Amino acid sequence: MTITGKTTVTGIIGAPVAHSLSPVMHNAAFGALGLDWVYVPFPVPPARLEAAVAGLAAAGVAGFNVTIPHKVAIMPFLDAIDPDAELIGAVNTVLVREGRLTGYNTDGLGLVAALAGKLTFDPRGKSVLVLGAGGAARSAVVSLARAGAVRVHVANRTTDAAVTLVDLVAGRLEGTAFAAGSLDALADPAFIGSFDLVVNTTSVGMSGDSFSGLDPALLKSGACIYDMVYAPPVTPLLAQCGAHGIPCANGLGMLVAQGEAAFRIWTGVAPPEGCMERALAAFLP
Ligand code: ATR
Repeated sequence: MTITGKTTVTGIIGAPVAHSLSPVMHNAAFGALGLDWVYVPFPVPPARLEAAVAGLAAAGVAGFNVTIPHKVAIMPFLDAIDPDAELIGAVNTVLVREGRLTGYNTDGLGLVAALAGKLTFDPRGKSVLVLGAGGAARSAVVSLARAGAVRVHVANRTTDAAVTLVDLVAGRLEGTAFAAGSLDALADPAFIGSFDLVVNTTSVGMSGDSFSGLDPALLKSGACIYDMVYAPPVTPLLAQCGAHGIPCANGLGMLVAQGEAAFRIWTGVAPPEGCMERALAAFLP
C-alpha cells in the first residue's frame, strides 16, 4: 500500500507495543477493503500518556487502541466514555471525531463474539464461572451479564479481589446473580458441575502451568471452556479439554473479535469475514 497525504491514521498506544498483533490484523483489513487507512504502533511511556493522547487528537488520527499499561489511566483524558467501558473501568478503543475523544471497551464484546463464533455458545440464561478478577475478568463479567448470563461466579486466587469486582458491578447489572470466591472451590465436583461455561481470564497457562484442582471432566455435559490465553495456542487446560472431548477455544478468537469491533467503531464498516484471523494465522509462527 502507498501512504499518501490523504491516508487516515489509526494505531495503538502501549508500553510496550512491539509485541502487539493488532497492526497485522487492522492493516490486513484496511487493505482487503481498499481503504486508504493505516494502523501504526505508538510506544507511549506512562509519564507521556496525557501528552500523547492530546497529540494524537491534535494530529488528526481517526482513532486508536489502548493497551497495557494505559487502559485505566487514559480515562481522565477522554471527553466521553461509553457506559459499558465506564462499568468495566477500562478503555481499549478510542474514537476521535472533530478532536473529541470517546472511549470504548471492545474486549468483552470480543469475548461474547468469540464464544458465539468458536463454541456456538450464547450466554443467555447460562451460568458462568470466571477465573480471575483483574481487568480482563471485569470486561468478561460485564459483557457476559449484558449478554444475558443469569449467574456469574468470579473465582480468584485472592478472594478479596473477586469480592471487590462483584461489588463493583452487581448493583449495576440487573438480571444476573453474582457471587465471588476463591479458587479452592474448583476442586468441588458439585460446584464445577453447576456451570455451562468456564472462562480463564488469568495468565495461568502461558508458562505451561494450570489450575490445581480444576478437572474439566467434572463439567456437566455440553459445558465449555474458554481460555483467554493464546500463546501457547494449547494450554494445559485446553489439552485436558481436548482429551475429554470438551468444547473449548483459546483467546485468539477474542483478540480478533475485539479488533473487528474497534475497526467497526472507527470505519463504520465491518472487516471482511475471516480477514483479520487469516492475517494473524499467516503472521504467527
Ligand atoms: P488483566 O488486566 O490481564 O486481567 P490483572 O488485572 O493484572 O491483569 O489481573 C491478573 C489476574 O490473574 C488476577 O486475577 C490474578 O490473581 P490475583 O488477584 O490473586 O493476583 C490472576 N493471576 C495471575 N497469576 C496467577 C496465578 N499464577 N494463579 C492464579 N491466578 C493468577
